[in-house]
Amino acid sequence: MAQLWGGRFTKETDRNVKAFGDSIFFDKRLWRQDIRGSIVHAKMLGKQNILTKEETDNIVEGLNGIYDDIENGKLVIDNSCEDIHSFVESHLIDRIGDDGKRLHTGRSRNDQVALDMRLYTRESLDETKVLLGSLLSTILTIMEENVDTFMPGFTHLQKAQPVTLSHHFGAYFEMFKRDVTRLDDTRDRLNECPLGAGALAGTTYPLDREYTARELGFRAPTANSMDSVSDRDYLLEYLFDLSLIQMHLSRLSEEIITWNTNEYQFVEIDDGYSTGSSIMPQKKNPDVAELIRGKTGRVYGDLTSLLTMMKGLPLAYDKDMQEDKEPAFDAIDAVDGCITMMTGMLSTMKFRKDRMEKSARHGFTNATDVADYLAEKGVPFRDAHGIVGRMVLYCIDHKKALDDLSMDEFHSFSDAFSDDIYEAISLRTCVEKRLTIGAPGQKAMEEEIAKSRTWWSKVFG
Ligand code: ARG
Repeated sequence: MAQLWGGRFTKETDRNVKAFGDSIFFDKRLWRQDIRGSIVHAKMLGKQNILTKEETDNIVEGLNGIYDDIENGKLVIDNSCEDIHSFVESHLIDRIGDDGKRLHTGRSRNDQVALDMRLYTRESLDETKVLLGSLLSTILTIMEENVDTFMPGFTHLQKAQPVTLSHHFGAYFEMFKRDVTRLDDTRDRLNECPLGAGALAGTTYPLDREYTARELGFRAPTANSMDSVSDRDYLLEYLFDLSLIQMHLSRLSEEIITWNTNEYQFVEIDDGYSTGSSIMPQKKNPDVAELIRGKTGRVYGDLTSLLTMMKGLPLAYDKDMQEDKEPAFDAIDAVDGCITMMTGMLSTMKFRKDRMEKSARHGFTNATDVADYLAEKGVPFRDAHGIVGRMVLYCIDHKKALDDLSMDEFHSFSDAFSDDIYEAISLRTCVEKRLTIGAPGQKAMEEEIAKSRTWWSKVFG
């Protein structure tokens, strides 16, 4: 297949150099964006009388034909061309002849690839957002169904205070919600059109950049032509957004892996989302969660690789920037896949309410509440803290929970205790009394859920 340059060369490119520089292997996935951009560019050239109506119509028809043929498999994108831009253009020339050679008027592959990547990023970003919408909806359902599923809350991975499963998942709702709004911010900054910047310095043709920007769904044309072809900030921002999403997924995965251990047994991962061992018949492994956690490394790597690639580049376009695509595609595929997997795993996972509640009861998660009780009865909090510390030691020795102690045992630690202690430190009371905004108490939690539901419906409903 023909290459798009060569007039000033007297020798063929070395075969290895060609293989070294070709990007068609990976940039073929930009074919939709490339053709779409070319159609709008051609229409603009026609509108501005840079091309005749007939030339424009031929080009648009040819490009539409190529689009349809690739879509339905009649035309396969092979590796004969250097990149996707050359592939589309040389096929156009094959199909419609000389008019095809006029498409690239007033355009460079530099603004072309800048446009293709922006369009691709914008579409991917929208897809990631939709996937997060499903994940958030699954999390909301878990929150709604588990307002009174008691479980231990942890700090330092030590049982700390009792919470509910609803509250725990509410934390993840907030994280993924922030991810959604971060994508919105990125999209907003991304949404300017680089087409028309040319190689770096605009063109002498009277291009209508407002028109192409509008037709391609951008807010406006980019302001500076050198920046237009050398900017990959939007991609870096998206990769950062993806890294954060992945970090949140990884933390959740880690918790699921822990909850799934024989020791915890807080959850049962559905058979469809776990795997067995080839040697140990008893095993049911949380592979999906582990893989999500594991893929976090490559997503961060993709971001780091792009940041590093960009860091010393002089303005404007440099071939280095061709190296933006593989890490970007890799991160997009990985994160989208992980969000989908997480949604499937969560929506089929069983929560062992009995195990969670038992664990909360036997972890002294109500110790603070015993101290608060004493403080309410007039014991200075610092003294109360010491008394309850001694009580915990006693309970460990006697293998008891705090609320298992008899009244005599309570009195052996402080006269301030009376019968109402049992009610005051029951798991239910400990959670129900936590009613500040954002706390796990049922009323507070129901308000949090209602607000989350409203936000979700506004954004995804
Ligand atoms: N394959 C190239 C890339 O991805 C397209 C732009 C080529 N521009 C150039 N001046 N060689 O960056």
